Amino acid sequence: MAMLDIRDLTVRFDTPDGTVTAVNGVNLSLDRGETLGIVGESGSGKSQLAFAVMGLLAKNGRATGSVAFDGREILNAPPADINRVRATKIAMVFQDPMTSLNPYMRVSDQMAEVLIHHKGMSKSQALAECVRMLDAVKIPDAAGRVRLFPHEFSGGMRQRVMIAMSLLCRPELLIADEPTTALDVTVQAQIMTLLGDLRRDFGMATILITHDLGVVAGFCERVVVLYGGQIMEQSPTDPLFATPAHPYTRGLLGAIPRVDQEGEELSAIPGSPPNMTRAPKGCPFAPRCAHAGEDCLDHLDPLTEFAPGRWRACNRSVEELA
Ligand SMILES: Nc1ncnc2c1ncn2[C@@H]1O[C@H](COP(=O)(O)OP(=O)(O)OP(=O)(O)O)[C@@H](O)[C@H]1O
Ligand SMILES: [Mg+2]
Repeated sequence: MAMLDIRDLTVRFDTPDGTVTAVNGVNLSLDRGETLGIVGESGSGKSQLAFAVMGLLAKNGRATGSVAFDGREILNAPPADINRVRATKIAMVFQDPMTSLNPYMRVSDQMAEVLIHHKGMSKSQALAECVRMLDAVKIPDAAGRVRLFPHEFSGGMRQRVMIAMSLLCRPELLIADEPTTALDVTVQAQIMTLLGDLRRDFGMATILITHDLGVVAGFCERVVVLYGGQIMEQSPTDPLFATPAHPYTRGLLGAIPRVDQEGEELSAIPGSPPNMTRAPKGCPFAPRCAHAGEDCLDHLDPLTEFAPGRWRACNRSVEELA
């Protein structure tokens, strides 16, 4: 049984302009210890997919379908159940560490609170564990700095504090939503190395959400490409990079800056993502796709396994796309 099993997940938001379909019938599963990347342009539904799993949708949002964790349904579960899963099984880190850190509390107090509440530790046990965890995320002089407030750390260090906090209860799954986007390139690399080390040491599965395919290449075993809230391609990482099999994936790869092409223009995908208030009937990428025909505007090809472990929602032959 997969650890996480997402079936036909759809997320809709009520807005004054109509219903926004942010995630549209996504099927996805993840095994223990696996690393999965979710990529796609801004607005493709990456964060809302994760928020739905975590029970963190905005008030105007609702999710349908099924999300099972260890065989137990957690989508729209009672708050007490989802809180327990969120505290002890699945953790999430965000682009902005202040999303999960309380600016008015010392790091020691907010971290210890988690352990006292969920693990029944005494104050002194909890504090010792917090220092151990800050050490694990390589914060220098953890014992001396644990009593600081979040704003007393630099951006990169604050990101480490948030990661330490998310790992306190030893989650089985970590969802990282653009964890390095706000950081400069050197710090980005350090945080990704750290996440890789922690993943190995703690043996947790990881979902990495990013629009940066380069980050995915170095970190994930498998990649899901989202567009317009739907999966366009899903594949082990190496073959996806070697022979991207969906025009959208090819477009994304074309938009990656390459060291050997310095100075050359990026081939960004022309056009812009669909307006999700009027979700298109056919393939959401068709209006921007160089290979699309009338048929594509009419219907989306179902996600089909075209090679072992490789799925795509496009009926053009892979050779035709090259
Ligand atoms: N509370 C909300 N009300 C209405 N629409 C929303 C709400 N939250 C998100 N959306 C819409 O849902 C769609 C998917 O958003 P989502 O945040 O998942 O994108 P994303 O892929 O994470 O993008 P980014 O890379 O910019 O973070 C977008 O069209 C967004 O405008
Ligand atoms: Mg997002």
